[in-house]
Amino acid sequence: MNHPALFKPIQVGNLALANRIVVAPMCQYSAVEGCMTDWHFVHLGQFMLSGAALLTIEATAVLPEGRISYADTGLWNDETEAAMRRVLEGIRNCFDMPIGIQLAHAGRKASTDVPWKGGDQLPPGDAHGWQTVAPSAIPFESSDHPPTALTIEDMTRIRDAFAAAATRADRLGIQLIQLHAAHGYLLHQFLSPLSNQREDEYGGTLENRMRFPLEVFDAVRAVFPAEKPVSVRLSATDWVAGGWDVEQSIIFARELEKRGCSAIHISSGGLHPAQEIPVGPSYQVPLARAVKAAVKMPVVAVGLITSYEQAEAIIGTGDADMIALARTMLYDPRWPWHAAAALGAQIKAPKQYLRCQPRQHGNLFAATP
Ligand SMILES: Cc1cc2nc3c(=O)[nH]c(=O)nc-3n(C[C@H](O)[C@H](O)[C@H](O)COP(=O)(O)O)c2cc1C
Repeated sequence: MNHPALFKPIQVGNLALANRIVVAPMCQYSAVEGCMTDWHFVHLGQFMLSGAALLTIEATAVLPEGRISYADTGLWNDETEAAMRRVLEGIRNCFDMPIGIQLAHAGRKASTDVPWKGGDQLPPGDAHGWQTVAPSAIPFESSDHPPTALTIEDMTRIRDAFAAAATRADRLGIQLIQLHAAHGYLLHQFLSPLSNQREDEYGGTLENRMRFPLEVFDAVRAVFPAEKPVSVRLSATDWVAGGWDVEQSIIFARELEKRGCSAIHISSGGLHPAQEIPVGPSYQVPLARAVKAAVKMPVVAVGLITSYEQAEAIIGTGDADMIALARTMLYDPRWPWHAAAALGAQIKAPKQYLRCQPRQHGNLFAATP
């Protein structure tokens, strides 16, 4: 029996994970007034059977105006919490696996249509649109309706909303929080000098640009039970000259680690339309490797990881501690089973499905509960 690196257990804080495969957060644009719907049963339920170690719930807005679109999932009141409880209880009754949630605020990239209707920004006058907010009144696209620059009072309200959502997530039995500081959304907008041109103590120097994201991290870490991990998803570069880059990411990651961050998830881009991304297999892995060299907490790599051997190599060489998969899991929701079969590892499968074990992989299924 081989012992592929991809299937070695790992600890994230106190959370024990069975292998190194994470289902990345994926917005479904299928919520109503922030409430999860039956779609989420099917979508999240299929991943409960996937054999991945951790399921990350999609970017979940901490305030209504922090949604990317009007159809985003939220966790800002009792109704959104009850809708999420219904889905989580349903899927957990069928199978158990650790579940994390990505807490988010879209900032200037909020108020859009859903992707299958073009995803364009909807101005405040639109029936489905609202006034966006950001560190500075600089729109993402020059043609966008500009965001309002946040006051300190607004920022306090947003920070408190992140903490309140974390408390709700804990009540829902969610085992891990991931703060969304990537892809050009609000916390990333504070980090990057391209979107943050504030002249107060929240803009200018790197220390000032990191201040609000770190305050949000501290507020969430303070209310989420100490035994449960809080992690951060970061765009390690804007892919634009003069923007956020890997050197600043390393300083930010170290600062997070000092404050009790349990893992860091390395993505990139999304902040500026002028980005030039060298897209290709594993294109973000070098960024993960650079951050991993500077921190002790587990580092997650993501982006165009599709083959079993590629995933095994990323973990085996130590470029990252875990991999996250998004489109790969939509295309093949039992990718971890197929990876285990190809690499000679075992996977936990539900008892109802045990009869499907292929003859040539007679040892694939580990004991199931
Ligand atoms: C349908 C879809 C929805 C996504 N939603 C989110 C999200 O909610 N939060 C986030 O940080 N990234 C989101 N992403 C980005 C993915 O998590 C991932 O970083 C990206 O797709 C690259 O990984 P991949 O090549 O495995 O798809 C989404 C991607 C897809 C395809």
